[in-house]
Amino acid sequence: MTPRILAGLFLAAWLGVMLPNAVAQQAARPQPLKSGIEFAGAEVRALQHDDFANPGMLWVARGEKLWREPAGAESQSCASCHGDAKTSMAGVATRYPLLDPGATRLVNLEGRIMECREQRQHALPLKYESEELLALTAYVRHQSRGMPVKVVIDGQSRRHFEAGRDLYYRRMGQMNLSCAQCHQQNWGKKLGPEIISQGHGNAYPIYRLEAAFRACAPRCCLRALPSTSISNCIWRGEAVNCRSRRPA
Ligand code: HEC
Ligand code: HEC
Repeated sequence: MTPRILAGLFLAAWLGVMLPNAVAQQAARPQPLKSGIEFAGAEVRALQHDDFANPGMLWVARGEKLWREPAGAESQSCASCHGDAKTSMAGVATRYPLLDPGATRLVNLEGRIMECREQRQHALPLKYESEELLALTAYVRHQSRGMPVKVVIDGQSRRHFEAGRDLYYRRMGQMNLSCAQCHQQNWGKKLGPEIISQGHGNAYPIYRLEAAFRACAPRCCLRALPSTSISNCIWRGEAVNCRSRRPA
């Protein structure tokens, strides 16, 4: 039997226990709301709170360097236009994703940074999940550290929110599971080596400790997601799409 089938069986057995609850708790929001870090062990939490020990801060530092680095035809840096990120970018990340000014597209923070990079800095595009874009995003997001998420979900944004909620509750993938079945109905329980969190994506990009030097955008483990990448697939036990990286 391949490891994947074994893992699949394990998951099915675990679900056998949890499924009877599934329907009853359909819309219940987790209470109290807990950040992902609260599910980590003491050691990881200590690391998270120590900026000198936290390896994720290397990415923030790299982002800060990139912020000041001239690029593009006019040799402009992010700082040339935005000045000190500590003030110009404070609170910015809390509003993303948001609708672009034409209200045609939902843009995440990475997308917004890319728009600036290409259309204002006139520099070459960065790849999604490239070291540079992860570092810049980590740096911009860092300026909103500790601030509550303030994504607008009314007006024209509403339909995007509803579409996301619909996906969140929809069963899909190899295991026919919805996101909510794990993150809303079974948070706090163990799944293999991990404790299921409430699945908040607000702290991304994050630094992954289990393999040396990784930083990832948020993603999770259902095979039938609209995106083509299958990542952090827990029943494969590996992060397929998170290549090992080291900031320069
Ligand atoms: C079979 C259970 C299961 C399902 C279904 C599932 N997840 Fe997860 N998810 C996990 C586990 C386990 C982790 C890793 C531990 C943790 O952070 O919760 C995780 C991690 C996450 C994280 C990172 C949370 C953090 O604090 O770093 C996010 C965000 C997330 N999932 C979102 C989703 C979304 C969106 C879906 C649906 C598309 C989904 N998950 C489906 C089990 C699941
Ligand atoms: C030539 C000037 C210029 C450069 C260079 C530039 N930006 Fe911008 N940026 C702007 C302007 C102007 C806006 C806001 C106006 C708009 O949205 O149309 C903006 C908006 C943003 C926003 C959204 C702010 C918000 O309130 O939502 C982010 C994030 C951002 N820039 C990041 C960057 C980063 C990172 C870089 C460097 C890679 C960069 N910008 C380079 C001019 C620039």
